[in-house]
Amino acid sequence: MANAPANIDAVLASFQQRWSPRILTQVNDYDVRVAKVEGTFVWHSHPDTDELFVVLDGRLDIRLRQDGTESVVHLARHDVFVVPRGVEHRPESPDGASILLLEPTGTLSTGDYDGEVPDHITSTTGLPT
Ligand code: NI
Repeated sequence: MANAPANIDAVLASFQQRWSPRILTQVNDYDVRVAKVEGTFVWHSHPDTDELFVVLDGRLDIRLRQDGTESVVHLARHDVFVVPRGVEHRPESPDGASILLLEPTGTLSTGDYDGEVPDHITSTTGLPT
């Protein structure tokens, strides 16, 4: 990471797993992560932190549940959206997308989800590139 840039395209080309974020770089106490996503994630929240989503390519829908009301935010390429701390969310992408995430180092991708993690999802604090 020292004197060389990280390249989003190169990192995205280096793996195929969906819902398995890679740590592109770190800034202060935050990870900049990139992930390929396809299909449906699990409902979860992050009690201690907001979560920033940037769609690099494709489309991502984020379902939100707050005070018993469910809504959905539709994100297209280069849309930016922040899920506030404590808000239940379930990202999904029927046709697949590449996304960039910004969240504190150590943040678990599945947050407070305590069910069985489906095979197509990696519950991780981010994998190295
Ligand atoms: Ni999340």
